[in-house]
Amino acid sequence: MNELQELVEGVYRDLKNHIGEGKVADYIPELAKVDPRQLGIAVATLDGGLHVAGDADTAFSIQSISKVFTLTLGLGKVGDTLWTRVGREPSGSAFNSIVQLEYEKGRPRNPFINAGAIAVADLILAGHQPREVIGEIVHFARFLAGDDSIVIDHEVAKSEAETGYRNIALANFMRSFGRLDHPVEHVLGVYFHHCALAMSCSQLARAGLYLAAGGNDPVLGSRVVSRERARRINSLMLMCGHYDGSGDFAYRVGLPGKSGVGGGILAVAPGKASIAVWSPGLNEYGNSQVGAAALELLAQRTGWSIF
Ligand code: DON
Repeated sequence: MNELQELVEGVYRDLKNHIGEGKVADYIPELAKVDPRQLGIAVATLDGGLHVAGDADTAFSIQSISKVFTLTLGLGKVGDTLWTRVGREPSGSAFNSIVQLEYEKGRPRNPFINAGAIAVADLILAGHQPREVIGEIVHFARFLAGDDSIVIDHEVAKSEAETGYRNIALANFMRSFGRLDHPVEHVLGVYFHHCALAMSCSQLARAGLYLAAGGNDPVLGSRVVSRERARRINSLMLMCGHYDGSGDFAYRVGLPGKSGVGGGILAVAPGKASIAVWSPGLNEYGNSQVGAAALELLAQRTGWSIF
């Protein structure tokens, strides 16, 4: 058996007794229904290899991981103008925090906290209807993963739209500072739907490969973003991808990563591989508890930490 496949299976075996630890997100009612006793690991390497263990082919709600794809699309559309709307600093606050927004006059700290991703959704709307932009995001996820079966889970999107009071507040607050160009309902329509993309670890690891390969898709042989842009997206993932848990993740795993409250994490080992893990139980920062442990073991055993 391939050495990396053995390593991935070893990580799964070593964490098997911990599966189910952490607390499933319940503030989005549809997510509360997910069985916490699941763990998937998928490692996509630059030579096109895919190594998986556990529930790697079960689709889950990628939630905030989608913010990596919308940031990529946003930079593609407006380039560095994006940074006039959103900062590039770690927030040190929870993903749904509102406190800094008032001090910073409606300009969110970074594109991965909810407020920042809402600002990016506004930018990529660019005068279009929400439905067109949602279609574009799904198309981009399918293109990156090389898999046309990827869809949005409309029950999750609806569930979040019905209960997303905090995001509705964040969007209205930004709009009051003149920071959103489109109606709040349109912007949130895009945001809730991209968070509800359903993907498996295998699909997600494949989709993240361009970030590990200097902006190139090594499987298709086509360029997704410039080398410089891939490096910059990775730097944002490292500093801000786990919100107020970003320092702990960098300390333990040492790779750029982006988490989602569905329990998924996408991590990037530049020049080596793109890794997706999923286990629904979350830690106190809203990041997958067993997923982060899997990445910690994987990084230790492969020596892939960037430090
Ligand atoms: O807006 C929300 O609260 C969710 N759609 C996404 C939050 C999320 O995934 C935070 N990540 N750990």
